[in-house]
Amino acid sequence: MKLFLDSAITEEIEYAMEYFDIDGITTNPRHVQVSGKPFIQAITEIGKLVEGTDLPVSVEVNPHFTEFDDMVKEAEKLAAMSPNFVIKLQCLEGSLKAIPYLKKQGIRVNCTLVFSSVQAMYAMRAGAYFVSPFIGWKETNGEAVQEYIHECVAIRDNFDFDTEIIVAAVRNGRQMADAAVAGADIVTAGLQVFKDALDHPYTRDGIQKFIGFWDKTKYE
Ligand code: E4P
Repeated sequence: MKLFLDSAITEEIEYAMEYFDIDGITTNPRHVQVSGKPFIQAITEIGKLVEGTDLPVSVEVNPHFTEFDDMVKEAEKLAAMSPNFVIKLQCLEGSLKAIPYLKKQGIRVNCTLVFSSVQAMYAMRAGAYFVSPFIGWKETNGEAVQEYIHECVAIRDNFDFDTEIIVAAVRNGRQMADAAVAGADIVTAGLQVFKDALDHPYTRDGIQKFIGFWDKTKYE
């Protein structure tokens, strides 16, 4: 099970590389805006952080670009900036044409903003390197997501698609575990989600209990 950090904040990325041994990074326009940096500066700095590693960094094409020509031009420009960059394209008709076109040039695509298993199937058929079913947004909208993740994994496995499934917009440890049980390849989440998922009140209580026993026991 791979863990990707969903962030464009370099300090968070360094922290997550050091403590959580993350396998990759995903960004989106919101994360870049939150970083407070201009887009090109933010992604250039992330590219430098991962230089010499094989950590994939998903970098999203300007969301105004919804047609093949615009998407491809921007994808080529971004992909040339770092061998680690995987280009995020929104799940649209233009992307279904762009994904195989870019793949032929060795440019990997993460098909993003995926909210149904049939959208995921389209992306897989087109040859997306990653597909990102968003679960947090669906849950906020009152939709069940467990079946959704299972369907994405089943479709991928039934047809031996090469695409790796990134369960995205993950908000808590329960969702991380659900994604792992369903057989998704990757979850991407913010740093606080990683930290909260590691924390458990019984672990904290247990430490206090054991400290009590330890302090009443001679060492030698
Ligand atoms: C995934 O690649 C997306 O960047 C992400 O998970 C979207 O989640 P957000 O709602 O936290 O921005």
